[in-house]
This record gives sequence, structure tokens and C-alpha cells, in this order.
Amino acid sequence: MIQINENFLNLKDNYLFSTIHQKVEEFKKENSNRKIISLGIGDVTQPLPSSITKAMEKACQEMSDITTFKGYGPEQGYEFLREEIQKEDYEKRGIYIDKDEIFISDGAKCDTANITELFDMNSKVAITDPVYPVYLDSNIIAGRKDINYLPCTKENNFVPELPKERCDIIYLCYPNNPTGTVLTKEQLKIWVDYAKENKSILLFDSAYERYITQEEIPHSIYEIEGAREVAIEFRSFSKTAGFTGVRCAYLVIPKELKGYTKQGKERFLHSLWKRRCSCKFNGVSYITQKGAEAVYTEEGQKQVQRNIQYYLENVSILKEGLQKLGYEIYGGINSPYIWLRVPNNKTSWEFFDELLTKANIVGTPGSGFGNAGEGYFRLTAFGQREEILEAMEKIKRMG
Ligand code: MLT
Repeated sequence: MIQINENFLNLKDNYLFSTIHQKVEEFKKENSNRKIISLGIGDVTQPLPSSITKAMEKACQEMSDITTFKGYGPEQGYEFLREEIQKEDYEKRGIYIDKDEIFISDGAKCDTANITELFDMNSKVAITDPVYPVYLDSNIIAGRKDINYLPCTKENNFVPELPKERCDIIYLCYPNNPTGTVLTKEQLKIWVDYAKENKSILLFDSAYERYITQEEIPHSIYEIEGAREVAIEFRSFSKTAGFTGVRCAYLVIPKELKGYTKQGKERFLHSLWKRRCSCKFNGVSYITQKGAEAVYTEEGQKQVQRNIQYYLENVSILKEGLQKLGYEIYGGINSPYIWLRVPNNKTSWEFFDELLTKANIVGTPGSGFGNAGEGYFRLTAFGQREEILEAMEKIKRMG
């Protein structure tokens, strides 16, 4: 008798965005004449910049020619892309990262889930609450039982407190998904110091760093002194360059970053991850990596920035519009996400239903991101401008 991994039974029946999708499909069936505006899942709507598609077309041509065809690429990613990342994303900000510390992958979602393979099953995990559901679900699937939730609500200005008991693995995501809030350098330093003191590891997801508008807010955990010894950073081309459908991301594991065996012997996480990639991954396609490389050209940077600016303007429209209507709004300054307080003591799912049925707008209930998200609601600004404006009108009419 083949036995299943029973940890799966400890998950919620559906992944958050699948539940939402299902509900919306049911609504559509009964209301086929209504136009639905999707401000739910954080998926981009602007097409890929032309400099990126041109680079990908050129790479396709190379693949069709026997003299330039490429088979398997390096598991860690092509050097041409890792060099650009090292130079443009880190060196230009005064951060030292070696190109060999960068691992190209097909998404930060997979990376933040797969990284848990590096750590012992009994490791204690700390996650902020509300949280991107992948962190929690992947640890549940792995069988980790000791999960500590760090509530982030308006009462603590969405700043997580240090865990009450010592934790091994700590997930931090800033700019935060879902709350759209950020941490300052001083606030992040507290976590770096904690991790150093406790020999813990910080898993820092900075998939939304390009949306930072305030000068003083750090883009990378490695802007904090000592972080190289305690942090892995995750980045993605999805929300930055429109790669949600193309798939390309990367993570950084500094070479000095250590974990320990049961006997207390040090092991470098970089070598373990490298070993894991060579065994389980054959790299991201050459065509995709050529597209990602084009992000760093002068034209690529201009075009990518234009799209980000577009989404940032969307978020301002939502933020200001909703504030005028009297909603309590968080986020939306350094992030494409608005985190709003659900009015009239309704639950997050009640507000979801109301917004869907009365205004035909899809958002994400805060409680789907964790218990501390109850009473909140997330809207994304990744929609097209006309839809954002239409959504605001509809919310206004909803009263
Ligand atoms: C979200 O809506 O939270 C994200 O788009 C989902 C993801 O990036 O996987």
C-alpha cells in the first residue's frame, strides 16, 4: 500500500488564490453579463518591454542555428545574467555580492518553498502574520510543526516583534506582501542581530524592491551590516519586469553563510544549495535568461521603470480614492499593494463577497494570508489604468 505524505492533510483544502479563482468562476457562471475587474492575485498586465522580447527573439534565432544552438545550461544560471545582477542590482547600491553567490531560477515562489530542504525537519520557523501563503504551506508539507506567527497589524504599525522563543528559520518579506508596508534599516538591523545571536537564518524576500519610492528604505537585506552571515535573499523578475508568465528569478546565498549539523559542525549553505540545484534543477531556459539580461540594458531599464511607474500611479489612484471615501488604508507607497481595513466590522470574506457581487471587483481577503489578516483586505495595482479608474467609480457607487 503506497502511503501518502500525510503532511498534505494539514494544509487548507485549497491554495488561497485557487479558492478565489473558484469563487470568481462560480460568480461568472451565474452572472455572465457582468464585467469582472481583477485586483486579486498580484499578476502584471503590462506587456513585456520590447527590448526584452527582442532579446528573446534573438535568442530563439540562435537556438535554430547549429552553430549557436544551446542544450543544457549551467544549473546556477548563465554567467552573463549573474554578472548583470551582481553589477546592477548590488554593486551599484554599494553592496558586495559575488556573481557565484547568485542562483538563477524559475521563480521566487519555488525558491522560497524549495529552500526549506536545506534545513532540519525540527527547525523552528517564524513567519509574519499575515504572510505570503507559500512560506507556511511549504513548511507544512515538509512536516514542520513548530511554526511561530508574528502578528503584523495596525496596532504594531505592521512591524513584527522578535519571536518569544528562539526560532531557526525566519521569513521576512519587504516591501511586504500582503500589507505593502516596509521596514527601515534600523528595524531590519534588529533581525540581523537576532539571527547572529541565535545562529538563525533570515529568508528575505525582496520581490517587490523595485516599488520602493522612499530613498531611505533598504532594497536589500545586505544593506544591513552583518547580513551576509545570516541571510538568503530572494528576488524576481516577475513584478519588476513583467515575467509572471515567462518565469525568472534568483536567490543569493553568501559564501560565508553557515548552518550546523546535529553535532554542531559548520556547513556552508552555498555548497549545499549548489549540490541541490545540480541534482534537482537543469536551469532556466537560455531564451528566458537572455530576456532577463535585457532588463539591465539602458533601454530595458527605461522601459521597465516606465511599467513600474504605471503601477505606482495606479496604486496612488487607489490609495487616494479610497482614502477620500473614508477607507483606512495602509501600504501603497513603496508597494503595488493596498491593505485596507474592512469597514463596518465585516469579515474579510464578507467584504470579498460584497465587493464581488455589488461592484464586480475581485480582491484578496486578508484572512487568507493568516489569522492576523482578518478584518483586512488586499487590492493590487497591477490592473490596467482604465480598470483601476472603473474600479474606483464602482466602489464609490457601492457606498
Ligand atoms: C500574490 O498575489 O500574492 C502573488 O502574486 C502571488 C505570487 O507571486 O505567487
